[in-house]
Amino acid sequence: MTLEIKPIDPQRPGFVGEVSGIDLRQPTSAADVAAIEAGMDRFGVLVFHDQPIDDAQQLAFSRNFGNLETATGDIAQGEQRRLSMEVNDISNLDKNNNVLARDDRKRLFGLGNMLWHSDSSFKAVPAKYSLLSARVIPPKGGNTEFADMRAAWDALDAETRDLVEDLVCEHTQIYSRGVLGFTDFTDEERRRFAPVLQRLVRTHPVTGRRSLFLSSHAGAIVGWPVPEARALLRDLVEHATQRQFVHAHVWRDHDLVMWDNRVTMHRARRYDASERRDLRRTTVASEAPTVQQQAA
Ligand code: OGA
Ligand code: MN
Repeated sequence: MTLEIKPIDPQRPGFVGEVSGIDLRQPTSAADVAAIEAGMDRFGVLVFHDQPIDDAQQLAFSRNFGNLETATGDIAQGEQRRLSMEVNDISNLDKNNNVLARDDRKRLFGLGNMLWHSDSSFKAVPAKYSLLSARVIPPKGGNTEFADMRAAWDALDAETRDLVEDLVCEHTQIYSRGVLGFTDFTDEERRRFAPVLQRLVRTHPVTGRRSLFLSSHAGAIVGWPVPEARALLRDLVEHATQRQFVHAHVWRDHDLVMWDNRVTMHRARRYDASERRDLRRTTVASEAPTVQQQAA
């Protein structure tokens, strides 16, 4: 099989590639890993269709790209978990694979994924790549949308670029969940989800392209009054998620979608909550805190 990557979205040819000529159930060659990394650098999002993998195969494939995160940002820990600590549970199911009740705490916390975000921006070392595998998808709805934060940066006027270039934000899940009115955190969760700092503008280490590093978890800017910070962040998110920067992924059974959290935001879309939706995410960690990286 020969690996090929082609643009998938005619309106956004530099964003989202479709990968063919690879079977993710099998070990990946070094050449294919390099081609996928090059594809990620170019597109920011890659789609692999018809990949009926299990958790072990997803983990093995993901490990080709670096160290994996553990799901310390999930609300379900220890005995409550449905999946291993290296697999984020992006489902509406309980441990017995039953659909969660409408008022279930895990479900309500998970609805935070419907806000535009970058994975693990609430961790001091945020996520590099996320790999999301569709095991069960609802009959309709439940798309995942991606926003190109390089294109969003490129489209900013010079004055706004100057304003935001060196800003540092505080990110925490306490803030993002609070936006939806989810506030019943335990003391242990409040400690685990304590705010971290992230640069607002990043430079991609390979391509040198700049991007806005926005996320629903960002609720403050260092040195700014909170209302002014939130107003600016809202304004930037509104700019960055205009339709011309956004691709909607319509899930098919056995899709795997891989994205670079350094250059994208994403969000889940609504679906009928009585239908099952079971997606599993593995997450490759970045190398260092963004505050240690230079903008330029
Ligand atoms: C994720 C996520 C969105 C979705 O897996 O990190 O935000 O559509 N998923 O489930
Ligand atoms: Mn996410």
